[in-house]
Amino acid sequence: MAAIPQVAQGHAVAGGGSPGFGLYVHWPFCLAKCPYCDFNSHVEAEVEDRRWARALVRATDRYADEIGPRRLDSIFFGGGTPSLMAPATVAAVIERATTRFVPAPDLEITLEANPTSTEAARLGDIRAAGVNRVSLGVQALDDDALRFLGREHTAAEALAAVDLAARLFARFSFDLIYARPGQTPAGWAAELERALRHADGHLSAYQLTIEPGTRFDLLARTGALSMPDDEAQADLYECTQEVLAAAGLPAYEISNHARPGEACRHNLIYWRSGEWLGIGPGAHGRLEREGLRIATEAWRLPRVWLERAEQSGTGERTRTILSPLERVEELLVMGLRLGEGVDVARLQAVAGRPLAQVLDPAALERLVADGWLTMGDGRLAATAAGRPRLNALLAALLR
Ligand SMILES: C[S@@+](CC[C@H](N)C(=O)[O-])C[C@H]1O[C@@H](n2cnc3c(N)ncnc32)[C@H](O)[C@@H]1O
Ligand code: SF4
Repeated sequence: MAAIPQVAQGHAVAGGGSPGFGLYVHWPFCLAKCPYCDFNSHVEAEVEDRRWARALVRATDRYADEIGPRRLDSIFFGGGTPSLMAPATVAAVIERATTRFVPAPDLEITLEANPTSTEAARLGDIRAAGVNRVSLGVQALDDDALRFLGREHTAAEALAAVDLAARLFARFSFDLIYARPGQTPAGWAAELERALRHADGHLSAYQLTIEPGTRFDLLARTGALSMPDDEAQADLYECTQEVLAAAGLPAYEISNHARPGEACRHNLIYWRSGEWLGIGPGAHGRLEREGLRIATEAWRLPRVWLERAEQSGTGERTRTILSPLERVEELLVMGLRLGEGVDVARLQAVAGRPLAQVLDPAALERLVADGWLTMGDGRLAATAAGRPRLNALLAALLR
């Protein structure tokens, strides 16, 4: 039976050090709602920029009052479409966060941008606001596919935005969506090769997921949208791994690929179960205090968040202390997405009891023998084949 090692407590992560501390800022507005997307995004005719800037800065201040001058490794503006934010708002949040916290010398400041030509025209101002990394939602390099995905840009426009980002920012990434209806591995490999000619250190390739409540969900239910079957999806996933690894961008997470040292720090804080403040509508955060891990969640609707943030300071709706079991589950759910896997010592420290009481040793042995998981050097990791099947693995593993 696979022994679950008994090891000392600790917070080490692959590559050493702590998982880090970051600030996540959610900007909830988009020009249009894409038919596949269930992110907290809303189409509003008018956004009161100054009011939003004041509320986001105030939320940053309130949390800084609470937790004190921590070292700050990352700021991430996610959405929604943060490239629609007024650059002055972005600058105000960065200024306040870097004043109230202690910026790491290599502080990563990422902003998600849509690659329409109008938004690309704002990239210079976004850089001037202090952002040093952008992540562009290219999604596809085929105009029919972009129309199908309801995008407001062409492939040429998106690639022009990527090339501009490459000139303006030391680090950038872009997102692609695959496993679209009718897509073949050969077609997808050619699309990836084309993408690679414009990529640098980081690329995200997400498998199209039908999310409940989206327009695609409705179309799929009525038979108007037929998705690739499991086998076709697995072939496309494998093709992604092969093409990107061969180009020097192996997966460090199920959908995220990077050259060594180029992984997104915000992503790593999140998947290594580090600590981050979440501000803006629907944002989640995680803080640790006196050995306890606290989950925060903000009011989801933009109007409600803004009003609450103006009244109470943060817009926080709930604050929950995670139980040891919830912490173990979270470490596994997040950490097994990463190629580096999870530190077993940390799992055990968080569980507060022998791991065999939390994880099923017989299931672990079977999953290792069958090639879905690996266990060695004090780390539990999913193999490339296991990573897309994490839900099934976790269901088998957790007692
Ligand atoms: C917060 S979203 C989008 C950021 C930006 N608004 C955009 O659209 O470019 C981050 C990424 O998630 C991916 N995504 C969103 N919904 C998805 C879905 N249902 N299936 C696969 N990927 C999805 C897209 O690639 C998207 O760029
Ligand atoms: S994919 Fe991006 S632009 Fe489209 S609705 Fe979602 S957040 Fe908005």
